[in-house]
This record gives sequence, C-alpha cells and structure tokens, in this order.
Amino acid sequence: MANNIRPKEMKRITTVELANEFIEQQIAEVRRQVGDKKVLLALSGGVDSSVVAALLIKAIGKQLVCVHVNHGLMRKDESEGVVKTFRDELDANLIYVDATDRFLDLLAGVSDPESKRKIIGKEFIEVFADEARKQEGIEFLAQGTIYPDILESIKAAEGKKAVKSHHNVGGLPEDLKFELVEPIKLLFKDEVRVVGEALGLPHGMVYRQPFPGPGLGVRCLGAITRDRLAALREADAILREEFDKNGLAGKVWQYFVVIPDIKSVGVKDESRYEGWPAIIRAINTTDAMSATIEEIPYSLLHHITNRITHEVPGINRVLLDLTPKPVGTIEWE
Ligand code: XMP
Repeated sequence: MANNIRPKEMKRITTVELANEFIEQQIAEVRRQVGDKKVLLALSGGVDSSVVAALLIKAIGKQLVCVHVNHGLMRKDESEGVVKTFRDELDANLIYVDATDRFLDLLAGVSDPESKRKIIGKEFIEVFADEARKQEGIEFLAQGTIYPDILESIKAAEGKKAVKSHHNVGGLPEDLKFELVEPIKLLFKDEVRVVGEALGLPHGMVYRQPFPGPGLGVRCLGAITRDRLAALREADAILREEFDKNGLAGKVWQYFVVIPDIKSVGVKDESRYEGWPAIIRAINTTDAMSATIEEIPYSLLHHITNRITHEVPGINRVLLDLTPKPVGTIEWE
C-alpha cells in the first residue's frame, strides 16, 4: 500500500523537463522490474494506456505486447488511429483484435443499462484473456492506473457506493496471474498529459476527451442495433469535427451524441420519414463528479443540426441536452 501513496515531496509534473526526468526514472525502474521478460498491455487508445505504451516501448521495446480490442463500440476511425500511431509510427508489437461481432451478438436485445455494462466489461476481459493465453512467456501486465483510480478504490474499500459499474481492465481469470507494472500510478491526469507530450504522442491522443470503457454502447440507448450504432458513430464524428473546427474541442471537457431507441415522424423528399433523434451533450467539469453545461453558439448548433440530419441516414431530429450533473449523470446509461 505504501508505494500506492503519492509522497508529499513529489513535485507536480508541469513542464517537459520534469516530464523527461520522470520518464528516465520510470524507464530505469521498469527495466529493473521486468528484466528480459515480456509484458502485456491492453491498449485502448485512451491517454492513460497510450502513455504507458509509449513509455514501455522506450524502456523495453518489443518485450511489450500491446493488445487493442475493438469491441465495435469505438468512435469513428479510433481503432485505425491506435494501429497507425503504435504499429506504424512507434513500431510497437501490437495485436489488433476485431471483436465487433462477439460484442454485438451478446448485446443484441439487451436493454438494461447495467446489464449492458456488465456484458461489455466481462466480454472485454474474456477477449483480452484469450489473446493473453496465445502469448508465450508473459510474466507482467502493464496498466494505465493513475492516482485518481487509486483514490477511487480507497473510497470504494471504505464502502462508498458507486452510481454505475465503471469498466476498466482488471480482474483477469485465475490462470492468468501476472505481476503488475503501473508506471503512472502516482500521476494526476494533467501530469499524464505532460508526460504524453514529452514522449511525442500525437496531440489529439494526449488531449483526447474522456471516453467511457463501454464506449458508444452507453450512448446507443437501450438494446443496441447495428444501424442505430452506425448512425450514432457518424453523428458523433460530425459533432467532433465541428467542435474541432470551431475551437471548442480544447475548451469543452466532454461532448458527444446520444441516440435513444425511439423514432419520430419526419418528412424528407416530400415523404414520411421516421427517424431517431440525435441528442447533443456538451459538458464542463473538473472531476466528473459534477458537471455544468457548455453554451454552444446557436449558429453552430444550426449548422451541426443541418449536417447531421442531411448526412446521417436514419436521423431526422437533433436535440440538445441542457441537464447539469447532478441531476443527470454525464453519460445517459
Ligand atoms: P457519469 O456518467 O458517471 O460519468 O457521470 C462520469 C465520467 O466517467 C466516464 N465514464 C466512464 N469511464 N469507464 C470509464 O473509464 C466507464 O465505464 C465509464 N462510464 C462513464 C464518463 O464518460 C464521464 O466522463
């Protein structure tokens, strides 16, 4: 436990110089811990696992085996971006698993939010474990645990109740017993980003907005269908593109589209056109425990509405969610 507590004298990493110092220390520490053994890492493409991957590639190169599981609930072009950055640019030992069908088949017809979360979390571990069993000589498991995760688990151990069952990798089956490598476990998120930049990761990856483990699965409300999921992915990509172009991407903490499982009547090409509504949610927060609504200029909202309703098949309305947290949670499920 003692080495899970951030020492009071530890300097906050705010500059590239401090980040480089940290990186050098961790490279030495990882080499000492791991020796010539192999390390496995679930690489989601989020900032934490990406920073751990880049750090370990520097420390132990091809001894690191990264596994990227595409659960079919990633955003547009996201998995491709992970492969491009890590396999093509950083020459990582990367296994890409397209498990879309496994996940979507299991989720078919399941509408209860907690059941969906549990299925996604459990299946994720199974897919990852299947890959781990195929590898020979793995003795370590690297994880992108950061300091808030440790603080959170201390709270959980004290019996404080969570609103949702969050899913991140952990709890591998009994036959897979690895020693953990957690090089960023004493860092806060802002420090992880500074380290990520010092490691040369792309800006978009380092400053990527938070994305929940169950991905678009908790934004395609109710029972997920492939057609509604495809519409969600396209609408979300348009929202992100427009926020990027209009300078909101770096200013708003989290912004995304949600599509409920309802249709309304509309009209297109002079005919009846039943479609789903796309709901825009854009929030600001410091710790995700509470959140306020970002005011988006109406002209931009009109433009986004126009694009989504014209470019995305199946959507015939765009709505704006003005609910702070509390009373709403950030995600709808
Ligand atoms: P809620 O919806 O609980 O979300 O207000 C708070 C923040 O957590 C993100 N979130 C998750 N992150 N695994 C994660 O790593 C999850 O299962 C998960 N569910 C929600 C959410 O996007 C928001 O930033």
